[in-house]
Amino acid sequence: MAQTKRATFGSKIGVVLATVGCAVGLGNIWRFPYMLGDNGGAAFLLVYIGCILFLGIPVMITEFFIGRYSHKNVAGAFKAIAPGTKWSIIGYNGVLAAFLILGYYSVVSGWTLEYIVQACGGSLAGKDASDFANEFTNFSTSVFRPILWTAVFIILTHVIIISGVKEGIERASKVMMPVLFLILIALCIRSLTLPGANEGLTFLFQPDFSKIDSSVVLSAMGQAFFSLSIGMGCLVTYASYFGKNTNLQTTALQVTILDTLVAVLAAVMIFPAVFNFGIEPTAGPELVFITLPNVFEQLPFGNIWSFVFFVLLALAALTSTISLHEVSTAYIHEEYHISRKKAAILVSIGVFIVGVICSLSMGIWSAYKIFGLNIFDFVDFVTAKIMLPFGGMMICIFVGKRIEKNLLREEVTNHGSIRFYFFNTYAFFVKYIAPILIGLIFLNETGLFRAIFN
Ligand code: PHE
Repeated sequence: MAQTKRATFGSKIGVVLATVGCAVGLGNIWRFPYMLGDNGGAAFLLVYIGCILFLGIPVMITEFFIGRYSHKNVAGAFKAIAPGTKWSIIGYNGVLAAFLILGYYSVVSGWTLEYIVQACGGSLAGKDASDFANEFTNFSTSVFRPILWTAVFIILTHVIIISGVKEGIERASKVMMPVLFLILIALCIRSLTLPGANEGLTFLFQPDFSKIDSSVVLSAMGQAFFSLSIGMGCLVTYASYFGKNTNLQTTALQVTILDTLVAVLAAVMIFPAVFNFGIEPTAGPELVFITLPNVFEQLPFGNIWSFVFFVLLALAALTSTISLHEVSTAYIHEEYHISRKKAAILVSIGVFIVGVICSLSMGIWSAYKIFGLNIFDFVDFVTAKIMLPFGGMMICIFVGKRIEKNLLREEVTNHGSIRFYFFNTYAFFVKYIAPILIGLIFLNETGLFRAIFN
């Protein structure tokens, strides 16, 4: 492909940490543990690891291929590779998904800031489980504070984005990701030294195979996609900043391993503590905002643990909001020839509006429903359960149908300079297996699977 002068990440470690930052987020620390709790613990973990290996890695390499080969934003990439065709819809789907996800993701990210401030001020102390539940509901349904924190989170993201790819995204990721790992390990050690740790570990690591059914398998696949940020252009956009020597295969492997490690460590941090205090592991999405502060406050120096935990959550969220923001910013900047700064301002304002609507829909606007869901849940449903699997499936079909196998091989082996041992298996997977499996996730997540097969 013709290459114009374009920003690139400066170092190998920068590439990996920025991409891990994109993948590691609320999905690992908030969503993964409660999905695991809901779906039977160790059995879910096993299936999840299978999905990561057989679906996650091949699709991630494929997204890297599109980004690095085209050196363009996700919409521009499809236009450049297949000019004048409808394939560019995949790119637009990605830009729109990233923009909408960023809207509601910023709201949840903003909540973490509220909890950081509360932990600092000591106001989490001396409460019991029902206090935590009431306060969370009062806070998340109120008008002003959640919107304020959403705005603060978007501004933080904005500042990093306008500093550029190398100076902003890469530098921030290089600092934030190691800090995130350190905090996570400290919290795991704390949790593992609690008296009830064994029970939590048994739940996590001793599979009960009778728990595995089609719904567990399909939920695990959906979670794998969300967690690896597959299907909506973040990985394509980041890969467009990879250098020509970046090894796409090892980068995909490293990112996947680190993302999975963070998810497993998050579960190791949470479940022993949950069992220690006799709390149900199936507490659902509130696990992190209601159950955990309750768990921490029962420990010595509870406020400090809560503070450290919510900083961890905020950092993880921030490295993901950057990647979501970058998808739309790069698109507007490159396709409409507007400066990067102006493009970022447009995106931030737009995302703030979506965030405000999502936030209010939890409270004063909760009566407005679309297909029975409030706007927040509707946006989550449409993006995570329809647009992401659609994007992932179409990316595989696109590469399987439109891209010559030799061209694919050239790009993923850096023109023959690195080996790809299972290239044919990989190409077969991307062309046939992945689209079918992703199609099944899609049917499951939208509820169509049950409607058809039950
Ligand atoms: N992977 C992120 C997480 O685990 C979420 C995300 C999805 C980020 C899609 C970017 C794109 O939280």
